[in-house]
Amino acid sequence: MTDSSSAPGQNPPMLDISVPHSARVWNYWLGGKDNYPVDREIGDQVMAMFPDITRLARADRAFLGRAVRYLAGEAGIRQFLDVGTGLPTADNTHQVAQAIAPESRIVYVDNDPLVLVQPAPCSPARPRAPATISTPTCATPARSWPKLPGRWTSAGLSR
Ligand SMILES: C[S@@+](CC[C@H](N)C(=O)[O-])C[C@H]1O[C@@H](n2cnc3c(N)ncnc32)[C@H](O)[C@@H]1O
Repeated sequence: MTDSSSAPGQNPPMLDISVPHSARVWNYWLGGKDNYPVDREIGDQVMAMFPDITRLARADRAFLGRAVRYLAGEAGIRQFLDVGTGLPTADNTHQVAQAIAPESRIVYVDNDPLVLVQPAPCSPARPRAPATISTPTCATPARSWPKLPGRWTSAGLSR
């Protein structure tokens, strides 16, 4: 699979559909459309070895939806930082949160620049939504991204 990591500020990579990519394989397991034959081929190979992978991916996604629904509803949260967004699919964080609280603000973060070249999950159909959806999958991410003081890793915020 590709490792398309690049430093912040670099140009987004060209979409290379000649080699599989982990985010697109995940999208395939979720039943999304942002994947190509090469991704489906390796996705099928993994499924042959680990048949539960699609169930696991969908359960993971369903958990995200339940968590955001709870946070936006019962817990009254209005700001969300979605780290490891992946490719847009059904029930993206802003859709779930804003269905409950339209004023919710969501920042999407992903360290994989591939998501830059895929269709944006934030729709111009909601241009006046109070949420400023800053996402690596928007066409103009650099202008809409807040100035983060560092970069999130699994170990926390590094500066
Ligand atoms: C398995 S996908 C999950 C996608 C989505 N959150 C979902 O639930 O369907 C994991 C994503 O996390 C991203 N990721 C992994 N490590 C990261 C990091 N340190 N910072 C930001 N994104 C990261 C990957 O690029 C990938 O897109």
